[in-house]
Amino acid sequence: MAHITIFVSGSIAAYKAVYLMRSLQKNGHHVKVAMTKAATKFVGTETFSSLLHEPVLTDLFDHNDGHIAHIEFADWTQLAIVAPASADIIAKMANGIADDAVTSTLLAVHAPTIVVPAMNSHMWEKSATQRNLRLLKSDGYLIMDPVDGQLAEGYAGKGRFPEPELIKEFVEGQLGNHGLLAGKKIVVTAGGTLEYLDPVRFIGNRSSGKMGVAVAQAALSMGAQVTLIAGTMSVAVPSNPHLQIISVKTTEEMLTKVNEQFTDCDALIMAAAIADFKPLHLADQKIKKHPGENEWTLKLETTPDILATMGAKKQSQLVVGFAAETQDLLNNAEHKLASKHADMIVANDVAKACSGFGTDTNQVTILQPGEKPQAWPLMSKAKVAQRLMKLVAQKLGK
Ligand code: CTP
Repeated sequence: MAHITIFVSGSIAAYKAVYLMRSLQKNGHHVKVAMTKAATKFVGTETFSSLLHEPVLTDLFDHNDGHIAHIEFADWTQLAIVAPASADIIAKMANGIADDAVTSTLLAVHAPTIVVPAMNSHMWEKSATQRNLRLLKSDGYLIMDPVDGQLAEGYAGKGRFPEPELIKEFVEGQLGNHGLLAGKKIVVTAGGTLEYLDPVRFIGNRSSGKMGVAVAQAALSMGAQVTLIAGTMSVAVPSNPHLQIISVKTTEEMLTKVNEQFTDCDALIMAAAIADFKPLHLADQKIKKHPGENEWTLKLETTPDILATMGAKKQSQLVVGFAAETQDLLNNAEHKLASKHADMIVANDVAKACSGFGTDTNQVTILQPGEKPQAWPLMSKAKVAQRLMKLVAQKLGK
């Protein structure tokens, strides 16, 4: 249980800070809130204060009874979160400006500070914003990158505030509260792999990387050192000092990187959707179409099976695979468990609307050698990941 202060600045995402506050309270933390004037235009102070049962700090001169409220706030804080952080507050923090209750308190905070930017994508991309973020990073602030998606302006871009659940996990990771995986190295693969046909074309798949990122986040929140080997992804990966990200494209590149990371890891979680076949020949030049040719045949050959390769060479490592099925879920998953020498298979029916590619939820069944399959209820991918990593921690003897 920690003393956490949320600093809310002027962004349309300010209302999401209410969910973040609730979710941190539910985890048993004591939360205080400070808001800029602009933030109060988006959410009333009463929304926070009635849930906190204490006033929100908005004004430097609120207390004229001898208290210096912003210094007391700063001294009380064990972890500060600036969420949402507007371009304006980022600029002020980067330059040490203290011209209101929020920026003055932030300047006095001597606890780790997480900054969660949220703004229009053009404001995010501006070199001034990026320069200010670099300054904050070099000053030791932890930046949780915004995500790609639909913005309030009606178009898509980078700048969206991450889901409060993800921020909470990031926070827990910083606090090291759930030390279940402390001292463990966890390797996670995420996203899809692609295979090139020629210099401009490839074969790929629909994996978004959501499940793998959720697994990495869950492991981080339990204190693990995580290596995320990321293929093609449509979700952003929040930065974290305990997270190493290795980007790959093809199955062979992923195999090389998994192989390098496997020797000293405690567990490998293969959440990536891997291309099973690749073109037999990779054309040096762009393949041209010819008049009168209405069909075209592509010859494919199999790619290496990474999970099976690691399953065959594992020593003390725990090897966890996923099984994406559209039919006969349990039989197919049982077969993968045995043939790939995995210690666990997380099976999901990707034909269901609530499970699988691109969804935020998943309904999985856990298979382990010699044990009855455990069907878990439909949950968010973040919750599935948390429960999975708890099980992994148990298996690792924690
Ligand atoms: N996998 C792997 N290497 C491959 C194919 C799959 O490591 N070349 C891993 C996946 O990351 C996953 C597990 O094996 O953890 C099962 O993947 P899945 O796509 O469900 O099954 P496949 O093994 O590809 O078999 P099939 O396509 O016949 O269902």
